[in-house]
Amino acid sequence: MTAVGGPRGAGSPRTVVVTGGASGIGAAIAEGFKAQGDTVVVLDRAPGPGVIEVDVAREDSVRSAFASARDRVGTIDILVNSAGLLTESPIEDMTLAMWSETISVDLTGVFLCCREVVGPMRRQRWGRIINISSQLGIKGGTGLGHYSAAKAGVIGMTKALALEVSADNVLANCIAPGPIETPLVDGISEDWKVAKRAELPLRRFGVPAEVAPTALLLASDPGGNLFVGQTLGPNSGDVMP
Ligand SMILES: NC(=O)c1ccc[n+]([C@@H]2O[C@H](COP(=O)([O-])OP(=O)(O)OC[C@H]3O[C@@H](n4cnc5c(N)ncnc54)[C@H](O)[C@@H]3O)[C@@H](O)[C@H]2O)c1
Repeated sequence: MTAVGGPRGAGSPRTVVVTGGASGIGAAIAEGFKAQGDTVVVLDRAPGPGVIEVDVAREDSVRSAFASARDRVGTIDILVNSAGLLTESPIEDMTLAMWSETISVDLTGVFLCCREVVGPMRRQRWGRIINISSQLGIKGGTGLGHYSAAKAGVIGMTKALALEVSADNVLANCIAPGPIETPLVDGISEDWKVAKRAELPLRRFGVPAEVAPTALLLASDPGGNLFVGQTLGPNSGDVMP
């Protein structure tokens, strides 16, 4: 039988960077990798113990944060882009500033962070990039034109990246969660949440620990080896592609 495990298969500790890893989905993913014995570096705008501070929307900030991460752990094997923000406005009333902030953080931030790791991953001929999109990037959301556009952009960019780098065994994929109980959704009205729960086939939101295993799967070797440019949807049934 052909061996399928790679150099970073089960039992080999890997180095992982998680942006937005100080909270919510990113924090659960960081914990999941740590529990497997991987070395995790958290990059976030929010300060915290062990966190390297970054604003993913700013090129200079991203450059220096990744330099600090490499100083700490050497080559980065796995990148998870979970940093993101969510604001709400109908397109009719949306200011350009609101649009631009969301595109800068939720889309440009993912591009800037991917660009930091792709070259070294290609040179070591192993890498995994996992971008956290949203099911709203597939179906759209009222009052969320900017967010829906950014998250659809993440899916498109990830497919292009996957085409460019897969031959060097660098695999890029997305996770598009449905509504997950995190600080990101705390500000949304209770009326919206009640209506949203009622329309979900599962009738409930997820929690971050129910998303993290999808990231661990995509990063696993051999379990994740055949996922290329895909979008996996732990979403309570909100979208069925
Ligand atoms: N919670 C949901 O329902 C849901 C659903 C689908 C997708 N998502 C996506 O999941 C990802 C994580 O969201 P979450 O729900 O865990 O939210 P969260 O608010 O708990 O975590 C987001 C993290 O990103 C950080 N962050 C925000 N802007 C940043 C910036 N400019 N630079 C660096 N860090 C920044 C925040 O400090 C925070 O720690 C986001 O990309 C979000 O769009 C969330």
